[in-house]
Amino acid sequence: MKKMKLGVGITGASGAKYGIRLVEELLRAGHTVHLMITEAGWQVFHDELDFAPAVDERETFLQGYFKKYSAGELHYWTLRDFNCPMASGSYNSDGMIIIPCSMGTLSGIAHGASGNLLERCADVMIKEGRKLVLVPRETPFNALHLENMLKLSRIGVKILPAMPGFYQRPQTLDDLVNFVVGKALDQLDVENHLFTRWGEGHE
Ligand SMILES: Cc1cc2nc3c(=O)[nH]c(=O)nc-3n(C[C@H](O)[C@H](O)[C@H](O)COP(=O)(O)O)c2cc1C
Repeated sequence: MKKMKLGVGITGASGAKYGIRLVEELLRAGHTVHLMITEAGWQVFHDELDFAPAVDERETFLQGYFKKYSAGELHYWTLRDFNCPMASGSYNSDGMIIIPCSMGTLSGIAHGASGNLLERCADVMIKEGRKLVLVPRETPFNALHLENMLKLSRIGVKILPAMPGFYQRPQTLDDLVNFVVGKALDQLDVENHLFTRWGEGHE
């Protein structure tokens, strides 16, 4: 299996668990992950997962948290550190995903703002014609959210809302999370067996 180099953004939308599960899966499969987390993303980590390292201990915390998935390589980048290779089109990455993606970051990307490392890396994916998958989470959507998503979809960005299906009869919270994460990994061409596909196990 090809080892991939992927950017992963986690923002301040609800659903931090989706981002964590996705990083676990990429590292477990031996891929390289360039991870970026917004300030609001860290706030949601605190609210939803009780993750609350001091600012200067965030990288150590993450390396420790993901240590058991040692087949892959984890690089953590702060949002002001433009030394991240994903910020340049000359780095041959295999794509990028933002999971969960807030309406704020989605708007920044739709307007080409490149206001921080995460938005810049997404902008690079678009300009280089590489895979960019956004997993928005908000409800209800207002017209601005919908317009921004349509704008991005029209230029090839994959909009994959955090909307788990129920046809695979989920029994646990993990089943619901794995469904969304598995669908997102499919879009990045990352092999995974996180959910039961239609036609498998329904005979
Ligand atoms: C607990 C919590 C949950 C939130 N959930 C969402 C959400 O589901 N979707 C969203 O777009 N914003 C949500 N927000 C608001 C964003 O965090 C806020 O708009 C922030 O500016 C986004 O910044 P970022 O894009 O840099 O992460 C939430 C905030 C908090 C504290």
